[in-house]
Amino acid sequence: MDSIDTLVLNIAELVTPPASEKARHGRSMRELVRKNDAAIAIRGGRIVAVGPRAEMESRFQSKQIVDAQGCAVVPGFVDPHTHAVWVGKRTDEFEQRIAGATYMEIMAAGGGILSTVRATREAKLDQIMAETKTRLDRMMAHGTTTAEIKTGYGLALESERKLVDAINILDEEHPMDLVCTFLGAHAIPPEYKEDPDAYVDMVVEEMLPEIAYMVYRVTLRDGRSYQRRGVQFCDVFCEQGVFDVKQTRRILESARRHGLDLKLHVDEFEPMGGTSLAVELGATSVDHLVRTGEKELRLLANSETVGVALPGTPFGLGHTRFTPARAFIDMGGALALATDLNPGTSWCESMPMMMALAARYMGMTPAECLTAVTINAAHAVGLGRQVGALAAGYQADFLVLETDDYRDLVYRYGVNLVGEVYKRGVSAV
Ligand code: NIG
Ligand code: FE
Repeated sequence: MDSIDTLVLNIAELVTPPASEKARHGRSMRELVRKNDAAIAIRGGRIVAVGPRAEMESRFQSKQIVDAQGCAVVPGFVDPHTHAVWVGKRTDEFEQRIAGATYMEIMAAGGGILSTVRATREAKLDQIMAETKTRLDRMMAHGTTTAEIKTGYGLALESERKLVDAINILDEEHPMDLVCTFLGAHAIPPEYKEDPDAYVDMVVEEMLPEIAYMVYRVTLRDGRSYQRRGVQFCDVFCEQGVFDVKQTRRILESARRHGLDLKLHVDEFEPMGGTSLAVELGATSVDHLVRTGEKELRLLANSETVGVALPGTPFGLGHTRFTPARAFIDMGGALALATDLNPGTSWCESMPMMMALAARYMGMTPAECLTAVTINAAHAVGLGRQVGALAAGYQADFLVLETDDYRDLVYRYGVNLVGEVYKRGVSAV
């Protein structure tokens, strides 16, 4: 018999998208593997095999048994778009918005992102990490085992470096895997208000050449260690009153020359042409897509760039218009879902909440929702061959739900149906 570390037994239904080298497009987003009375064999934090319980019990000798107690098991969620590293809160602005002020008006008046920038610039690394850790813990309790985090509340070289440090140290210390994105172009900082192009110059000439080459030492469980880059992606908030398409192109082309992969915030409030730019530049993902027109959606659907919808953002702003996900998937697009976790538009750590919104306001089926928070979300952060599916070779990141039907994750809302969370085969919650 083959010896393994862990055998997960007594799974009512194991539900996962198939292992996929690329993001799943169109109709294939609905194709899930559903196995009753299945078992998962794990060794060294990876899945060795998934199969019928009886066969797996006769094939493997395991040091440890995890009893799923007749519940459903799904892959750990990947949250591919968050701004989770910040300090403070903006409850007063939330009240102003309820009273009628718009998000962009508050931002133009020096609040919004800029008020979080002020608080985050002043804060020490320890405080930033402590506040962020409480959010990571809450994300993990709701099933997120891998997340992307953007910088963007520093907007100056030293404070952006501090955020890259925070993300990388938390990646080492916290069981969740983190992917770091440099979002120096999140807003025009107050000191550049009169000359936004000078800020773009600064991002390109001073920030990217430093930040793209920050390196960190990673220590493996067996004690070996290696060095890796601290930042994997560069993103730009391409939106009216923030960065236009020309400025966005300049920053992203420069980031690419420094070896970073690309992401974009587009069409959250106004369509600007950012989606076409993302496809042209071969971005890994393009996010928000609330106002994107049909022509650009088609272009995206026929590309390898993953579209990321963030339904917590319109919901958080009290808007009623959402990303046209149904049309996009029917055109053959590959869609992922994310929380956009941030203190302004969407302070929500829960991926199941995003699924609940996506089904109701974006017409997505539970199967499409599950694909969108697992394998497609993993591809949106460049990790689709490591995480996002329960299949041999993938990391053993899985959730034991407090139900025997995975669709309850989408059907029921406002409560947490994630019972147990395993990261690399080890209980994390
Ligand atoms: O994705 N769009 C830009 N950034 C965030 C909001 C950030 C904030 O308000 O602090 C978003 O909605
Ligand atoms: Fe965002």
